[in-house]
Amino acid sequence: MAIKKVGVVGCGLMGHGIAQVAAQGGFTVVVSETEQKFLDSGLGRIDKSLAKLAEKAIEKGAPADQAKQQSADVRARITGSLDRKSLADCDLVVEAIVENLDVKKQLFAELGQLCKKETIFASNTSSFPIAAMAAASGRPSQFVGLHFFNPVQLMKLVEVVRTNETKDEVFAQARAFGEACGKVAIGCKDTPGFVVNRLLVPYMSQSLLMLERGDATAADIDTAMKLGCGYPMGPIELTDYVGLDTTLAILQGWVKAYPNEPAFKIPACLETKVKEGKLGRKTGEGFYKWQGDKKQ
Ligand code: 3HC
Repeated sequence: MAIKKVGVVGCGLMGHGIAQVAAQGGFTVVVSETEQKFLDSGLGRIDKSLAKLAEKAIEKGAPADQAKQQSADVRARITGSLDRKSLADCDLVVEAIVENLDVKKQLFAELGQLCKKETIFASNTSSFPIAAMAAASGRPSQFVGLHFFNPVQLMKLVEVVRTNETKDEVFAQARAFGEACGKVAIGCKDTPGFVVNRLLVPYMSQSLLMLERGDATAADIDTAMKLGCGYPMGPIELTDYVGLDTTLAILQGWVKAYPNEPAFKIPACLETKVKEGKLGRKTGEGFYKWQGDKKQ
């Protein structure tokens, strides 16, 4: 089966980006949300991002009418829906909802009943076991992780995660889908955090523990890693960018499964900020204050 129609569940930070790159890859996309306001906000972000990409293409010398037409064609391939039944005939459904394993398992159990028998399922989870969601879906051999990075439109990687039960042809199709979305795909096993987050999240939490100890200010820690290592963002700025709630959810999931792993220690300042509703860039404040995409 060739993948033509793609469903994306969730039109938030990751979901809107996945819907967009899939449409840019030529796929027909249905993006499903629970409330109109979430759909409007996600589709609005896609409009802004497409306008920005068209502007960049024009700056680089593309004819303006061609760049604008291309954006309009991409946008026309995306439909928003508040009815999960609209995912029933998709060839691939990618989940990008809240980072809560029980909610994800419940969703996949529903999709397993709803979607045609050939549909491949993928989760964009940052850290939960793919096998647990695969089992809940009732079709574990047709299940992979497709882990994109934020901002999806700009980050060039996708991790394609296989479990012991993923069929070779399903893994190959998922990988080809990621590449058609313009990404470089790497394959990996279903281990905590896969490749990137297993390395990145402990690095981010170590920077917060360093902040708590008073070893350096947030700005100095970030500057150190940007200029000392050539990273585009420092670890604390990146925690704000990823979302403090998401970072905390990842660590909490790992602590539950691996209570004796010191690399998964949860910084108290992260818990406090999340309790205060300071979730980073998306709420306008985390460890820094933000105005839109710009750190203040
Ligand atoms: N769509 C289209 N254009 C976009 C965009 C989007 N979504 N987001 C930003 N842009 C544009 C900007 O408007 C800007 O345009 P301009 O040059 O005309 O001003 C251009 O892209 C570059 O953006 P910035 O000016 O902000 O400049 P940077 O060079 O700093 O690039 C960045 C931004 C790519 C985000 C870079 O800072 C970066 O790579 N940061 C690290 C991000 C990262 O590590 N992500 C992974 C997080 S981990 C993760 O996602 C996993 C999860 O499971 C936790």
